[in-house]
Amino acid sequence: MPLVPMKQILDEAAKGGYGVPHFNVNNMEQAQAIMRAAEKVSSPVIMAASRGALKYSDLIYLKHIMFASAEKYPRIPLALHLDHGNSLETIKTAISLGFTSVMIDGSLKEDGKTPTSFEENVAVTRQVVEYAHPFGVTVEGELGCLGGIEDGVGSGHSKLTDPNQVEEFLKLTGVDALAVAIGTSHGAYKFKIKPDPEKNLLAMDIIKSIHKKCPQLHMVMHGSSSVPSELIAEINKYGGKMAPTYGVPLWAIKEGIAAGVRKINVDTDLRLAVTATVRKYFHDNPDKFDPRDYLTPARDAMQKIIEERFVAFGSAGHAFDYKPMTLEDAKKFYRH
Ligand code: G3H
Ligand code: 13P
Ligand code: ZN
Repeated sequence: MPLVPMKQILDEAAKGGYGVPHFNVNNMEQAQAIMRAAEKVSSPVIMAASRGALKYSDLIYLKHIMFASAEKYPRIPLALHLDHGNSLETIKTAISLGFTSVMIDGSLKEDGKTPTSFEENVAVTRQVVEYAHPFGVTVEGELGCLGGIEDGVGSGHSKLTDPNQVEEFLKLTGVDALAVAIGTSHGAYKFKIKPDPEKNLLAMDIIKSIHKKCPQLHMVMHGSSSVPSELIAEINKYGGKMAPTYGVPLWAIKEGIAAGVRKINVDTDLRLAVTATVRKYFHDNPDKFDPRDYLTPARDAMQKIIEERFVAFGSAGHAFDYKPMTLEDAKKFYRH
């Protein structure tokens, strides 16, 4: 089973100058949509589970769905990633489940809400690296707090990444990848005004400056759903009540990739695709009640978005460029 450390997928992406989407999963249909899309366009895969996803699935269901993905598609390089780990305990759980990559979001305290100091972030991130690397497991950290910028809707704790802190953070922690805050935010409500390619939407200067100082670093863009307006329109047409909103356009993500971003996190777009499809399905077929009837088109709708992202970020066509690395190989790498 080509369960690879995420570091390999990102190292290869850096060599090839492309980005790789990270997709969140909570259930079988999402995992199937991702793997079907990856097989179709030959892309490596980063499949991520949040703490919420693990709780929703009693850990064990999601674990086996993720492992089933690897078993059914043995040729696709697949990293199983913990999204927004909040403590060493959560990291230990993920590694014991067989994840090949973990994120420790040390920018926030264990409650996932309160911002930490630089020193607190370094301390917990370092602990996680010391624990994870001997297993060959990749570690993603975070510096700065995600949130809105100007027109965006943020967590209330938005703090853009300070490029001057990055080198020190990398030296003190040893992380393999770093989530940077450049003005994106999680969820569907990112920007109230339609992003204009002529105006600065995100703080790309931060990405460029970090890349200049630390060219080897794999930067990660969280909160990078594009929130397609046709999906919002479809949801509202069939009974939804979503307020007008805009996401991160593909042109902004491509700008990030050109400047050194290697991993782009997408969750909300898949949620919107499912909801739009199911709402329309129920409207058009009020007599239907078999979940397979409406989950089949919902899965297809997710697959379509996923394929589009693999192509747009440039990972399509790269699944078979390299020999998948095992965690054993990665263990040796970290020992040196
Ligand atoms: O980072 C946030 C992801 O979209 C996961 O969201 O915690 O609701 O599963 P969740
Ligand atoms: P979106 O809410 O924009 O999809 O972001 C997801 C994410 O960053 C997961 O870590
Ligand atoms: Zn995130």
